[in-house]
Amino acid sequence: MAMKRAASSAVRSLLSSTASTFCRNIHVPGESKKIVGVFYKGNEYAKLNPNFVGCVEGALGIREWLESQGHQYIVTDDKEGPDSELERNLSDAHVIISTPFHPAYVTAERIKKAKNLELLLTAGIGSDHIDLKAAAAAGITVAEVTGSNVVSVAEDELLRILILIRNFLPGYHQAVNGEWNVAGIAHRAYDLEGKTVGTVGAGRIGKLLLQRLKPFNCNLLYFDRLRMDPELEKEIGAKFEEELDAMLPKCDVIVINTPLTEQTRGLFDKEKISKCKKGVLIVNNARGAIMDTQAVADACSNGHVAGYSGDVWFPQPAPKDHPWRSMPNHAMTPHISGTTIDAQLRYAAGVKDMLDRHFRGEDFPEQNYIVKEGQLASQYR
Ligand SMILES: NC(=O)c1ccc[n+]([C@@H]2O[C@H](COP(=O)([O-])OP(=O)(O)OC[C@H]3O[C@@H](n4cnc5c(N)ncnc54)[C@H](O)[C@@H]3O)[C@@H](O)[C@H]2O)c1
Repeated sequence: MAMKRAASSAVRSLLSSTASTFCRNIHVPGESKKIVGVFYKGNEYAKLNPNFVGCVEGALGIREWLESQGHQYIVTDDKEGPDSELERNLSDAHVIISTPFHPAYVTAERIKKAKNLELLLTAGIGSDHIDLKAAAAAGITVAEVTGSNVVSVAEDELLRILILIRNFLPGYHQAVNGEWNVAGIAHRAYDLEGKTVGTVGAGRIGKLLLQRLKPFNCNLLYFDRLRMDPELEKEIGAKFEEELDAMLPKCDVIVINTPLTEQTRGLFDKEKISKCKKGVLIVNNARGAIMDTQAVADACSNGHVAGYSGDVWFPQPAPKDHPWRSMPNHAMTPHISGTTIDAQLRYAAGVKDMLDRHFRGEDFPEQNYIVKEGQLASQYR
């Protein structure tokens, strides 16, 4: 370890003299840093659970630790516009931590203003709220807590599939509203068994979902830019589809599990949705902007999509008049699947670990990097 640190410190001093644009995090041990955390507000719920660390008040549970080391830690939910607390703290911030649930949109313009910024950490998974190319060009490291909430999201996707296929929500609303109309639910409620479920993206979350679906005796398909190892494919029991357009018409249920990248932004537009089977159910906990917002609302209205559920929107928080709030047959929620208490404890620990390594000048676990030394992780290129 000592040798590795000495080597990386030699590399850093070389970088600082020759290629400082590729790596701003040239760290001097003992230096005091300004860290800005952008999280959702806990309000009246903040004190109800000591493990509720993901909110502004919980501050990832790292305030004492950071301040005891002489660092300044500003935590806020105020992230939009030129007068926001985030914007007011940009110019001298060294580190910004944000979550996908209440994302600090770190645009090229904000990166330009943040002259001291070394590190952007995502408390969770998915760093599409950051202009990754601008971060790379400015020599800023971007990293997330890879794997931290994948179980949380896969479980939630299974829940959403079942909610849609059993037409659960209209039944719940009847119960609340004092109604009793079995036909109103039963005419479009089905078993999951025997249906074809396809995941677009079979990385960490996609694989966990497929494993959870196996006991339901569905036909499982997946499309990904990378094929799984044949042994794993056999164990999971899912068939690889080389072409997305060939998989879509086969699926009764489609689940989106890719990151939001230049390749996947707006992927599910009117044309792509028209390739899906009439009456398809779509679950998307990946990112709202993978879908064309209006195309989804139109397809739910005309019945081509029989149900749409997910927790991701664009932008977030979603505006009051977002078309998905009022489209028929949806089961949308605010962005919650990856922020269970278990997930919060995992991503808070992951953030603390990366900050600790950053202060010591050590590398992060390789899978956490989204931008490292001017290079984007392969799936974001
Ligand atoms: N709703 C939430 O709370 C929540 C929480 C965690 C993650 N997410 C989202 O889920 C995404 C996936 O998370 P993960 O941990 O499974 O990531 P992962 O990196 O393990 O898996 C992503 C998979 O997508 C594939 N992929 C990428 N681009 C593709 C493309 N253009 N075409 C086909 N396949 C492509 C990759 O090869 C990989 O197998 C995250 O990037 C994030 O946007 C949401």
